[in-house]
Amino acid sequence: MKAVTINTLNDIKHAGEKFAVLTAYDSAFARQVELAGIEALLIGDSLGNVVLGYDSTVPVSMDDMVHHTAAVTRGNSKSLLIADLPFMAYATPEQTLSNSARLMQAGAQMVKLEGGEWLCPSVRMLADRGIPVCGHLGLTPQSFNKLGGYRVQGRDEAGAEQIVLDARRLQDAGADLLVLECVPTQLATRITKALTIPVIGIGAGPNTDAQVLVLYDMLGISPRVPKFTHNFLAETGDIQGALMAYAEAVRSGTFPRPEHSFK
Ligand code: KIV
Repeated sequence: MKAVTINTLNDIKHAGEKFAVLTAYDSAFARQVELAGIEALLIGDSLGNVVLGYDSTVPVSMDDMVHHTAAVTRGNSKSLLIADLPFMAYATPEQTLSNSARLMQAGAQMVKLEGGEWLCPSVRMLADRGIPVCGHLGLTPQSFNKLGGYRVQGRDEAGAEQIVLDARRLQDAGADLLVLECVPTQLATRITKALTIPVIGIGAGPNTDAQVLVLYDMLGISPRVPKFTHNFLAETGDIQGALMAYAEAVRSGTFPRPEHSFK
């Protein structure tokens, strides 16, 4: 695989093909994921749940994210590295800029942040200063207290229209990618068609431009496994085989299946 850039991912979308993304938190797994030809690695704040033993992503700090981003960077040379800004690390545009700079200096090539239109000034500020941005809409786990739990979003018309509007605004503000988490397949399909930037789904059905899963979920070693994931290790029996099976299933459109999606 050649080094993946934003242009690579845009070209894949515009050729009508799909790419695969997985989370990674350390250099050993980063090497394995890259070897499997996965186009992008997300140093997700799911780190809190699956590695650090917290009940949510809320306790994850900037120091945690910088430490794990640097570790993943040391194990990777070709996949595009996206790092999450954790809870309250992007409450103001100035804070977003200084914390994004820390992640980029640790090796990230793009930062991800959760939320809609209110983030546009921050996204614009990052884009203007050369920092690529991935938005995250639908179920935004850092806001689970406000959302009343980990629930599918955009099931009613008003909720769906708000997500469509937020997606357009983030793109217009300069976002390069968008993650859509736990939204009905029909809504994810509509947003994927409406946006020119690649849309990455998780629990968003099969029609997005890419899929992302939490690495430990798809290896079957997470404490709690959500409906939208699949244990690829159980099928293949070895880690490299599981990662390659995931990449192939995403590219061929055989994952996710209807039982991993929401109506
Ligand atoms: O933190 C994470 O792993 C994420 C994915 C679930 C998209 O944000």
